[in-house]
Amino acid sequence: MDALQQNDPGFSIVLGIETSCDETAAAVVARLPDGSGHIVSNVVRTQWEKHRPYGGVVPEIAARAHVECLDLLIGEAMREADIDYSDLDAVAATAGPGLIGGLIVGLVSGKAIALATQKPFIAVHHLEAHALTVGLTEGLKPPYLLLLVSGGHTQLLIVRGVGDYERLGTTIDDALGEAFDKTAKLLGLGFPGGPAVEQAARTGDASRFDLPRPMLGRAEPHFSFAGLKTAVRRTAEQLAPLKPQDVADIAASFQEAVVQSVADRCARALDIATERLGTSATRNFVVAGGVAANERLRECLRRLAEAHGFAFYVPPAQLCSDNAAMIAWAGAERLALGLIDPLGAAVRPRWPLDLDAQSAIGSGVKA
Ligand code: KG4
Ligand code: ZN
Repeated sequence: MDALQQNDPGFSIVLGIETSCDETAAAVVARLPDGSGHIVSNVVRTQWEKHRPYGGVVPEIAARAHVECLDLLIGEAMREADIDYSDLDAVAATAGPGLIGGLIVGLVSGKAIALATQKPFIAVHHLEAHALTVGLTEGLKPPYLLLLVSGGHTQLLIVRGVGDYERLGTTIDDALGEAFDKTAKLLGLGFPGGPAVEQAARTGDASRFDLPRPMLGRAEPHFSFAGLKTAVRRTAEQLAPLKPQDVADIAASFQEAVVQSVADRCARALDIATERLGTSATRNFVVAGGVAANERLRECLRRLAEAHGFAFYVPPAQLCSDNAAMIAWAGAERLALGLIDPLGAAVRPRWPLDLDAQSAIGSGVKA
């Protein structure tokens, strides 16, 4: 880092730690006086190999795996950044939502570093970190409409500012990433499911199976994927044993049903956002979270945004899935506003972004 920049009071450098699910990650991010961000180092170790035999994330295995490698990864991130702990302006760690064991590992490590170095500590909301990633990668600042699609959450939100979210819609049952993972498991495509389904769909015929497009036309931009999942299971059972082409065709038909359902829900949210933000506000639509890596979804939502007069933003694929650069960046954004947390901050395995949001009617209370 440039020594001159580092002495500027508007400059900050933050260590981020992420352990909420099945990726252990550490990163160092700089926030420049003009509000832009720069990734100085970014280290991610996925635990997929450990969970693969079980076909899904096993919380106890995840927590142990974080313990095994977090210190090493933090050391690696600091070495790559070529800075000393005393150069840090703050330490940020994910406090929730996520799996409690993993959250404790990351939060305690972050607090220990903050305590030992006498630096401010920031307990980061994992979904806020996904939500703000476009500030780091594209320099985009709120307000914007956000579709957040990950393994545990599927939400449409108006992001008005750091810590200021209005939820427009959520899933009433499964999260979108979960639907991809379950479909992959059913089709014997392995774990994690999203990239495997997308890959299989490339050689499939999306029009072969007429799967349901859930929630189409509903006024509130909520989501539902449980019925689609059941339809996929029935289709697979009727065809069993599945040939490779059957698997590809089901994957493609599933992905198409998902994309059309999500696009319909987003179209509704784009209309609501236009009303709520007012026509004078710059209209931006952001997609974030692990499922935002899906190329078919990105392409379709880009066209949809443009048709509604919105500019479209999505972080690069490697920053859509869980990473610590987004945690460090959310920490840096909070630090810039003076929003720091006490060392007594607790983990929050369940932690809504919009605390005022009502639960969706018929919701299985997952999200
Ligand atoms: O945000 P993320 O890395 O972790 C959570 O916070 O949950 O999201 C992980 C989810 C998984 O369900 C994974 O299958 C899904 O994102 N995913 C994808 C793709 N890449 C990852 N889903 C569809 N297509 C993809 N290319
Ligand atoms: Zn995530």
